[in-house]
Amino acid sequence: MANAKPLTQNQPAPSRFNLVRLIAIVLLTLIVLVGLTILIIWLTIKPKKLVYSIDDAAVHNYVLSNSNHLNATYYFILRAYNPNKKVSIYYDKVDVVVLYDDETLSTGTIDPFYQPKRNATSFKLNLSSRDVSLPQQIARDMKVERSSGQIEMTVKLKARIRFKVGVWKSRHYGMRVTCAPIMVHYSYSSKGFQKISCDVDI
Ligand SMILES: *[C@@H]1O[C@H](CO)[C@@H](O)[C@H](O)[C@H]1NC(C)=O
Ligand SMILES: *[C@@H]1O[C@H](CO)[C@@H](O)[C@H](O)[C@H]1NC(C)=O
Ligand SMILES: *[C@@H]1O[C@H](CO)[C@@H](O)[C@H](O)[C@H]1NC(C)=O
Repeated sequence: MANAKPLTQNQPAPSRFNLVRLIAIVLLTLIVLVGLTILIIWLTIKPKKLVYSIDDAAVHNYVLSNSNHLNATYYFILRAYNPNKKVSIYYDKVDVVVLYDDETLSTGTIDPFYQPKRNATSFKLNLSSRDVSLPQQIARDMKVERSSGQIEMTVKLKARIRFKVGVWKSRHYGMRVTCAPIMVHYSYSSKGFQKISCDVDI
């Protein structure tokens, strides 16, 4: 009886240590499993960047008044290519803007569409400027380019897209596409048009 240890002298330290170690091991295992799962999904889907290009462009009905007001119609063939074998895309909203030297000449939209896997779709963009007031310097530069027969333009897209893999649909992502410089001719002739590829940013 004299040798009995007091009851208060129990030692919880080793079991607490074991518990911490167990939790650490479980957490680590979970992290590794989640990481491996993501890696396997990624390797299976192999997402590839979307590919955009401007395949043709022209300006018609160009009138730039002495008061620097512009009327014109623009014609662009925009090609959207989804190179993915497993991913299809919902384009829920697509805004288009045509710029000259950072000055907006025209805005428009593309109707929402669904793009299947490995699909290329070309869009005819039909845009126009009606009485667009241009800054003096911009108008002057444009007149100089006009006399050279072509004009350097930029087309930008801003889109809200979702990805679809199997039955799973992603949340919305914002996509920005910039096509520049587009050398646009002032005529119907599209021969000699230099196709350009666009920067795609998601
Ligand atoms: C542009 O077209 C509108 C009518 O559509 C016309 O009122 C305006 O004067 C035109 N502007 C120029 C610069 O031709
Ligand atoms: C791309 O998808 C569109 C819309 O689903 C379809 O009309 C078109 O034929 C497809 N193009 C190709 C090359 O598969
Ligand atoms: C483009 O729009 C103009 C008017 O804005 C129209 O006259 C013309 O027919 C349209 N062209 C196409 C191919 O839709």
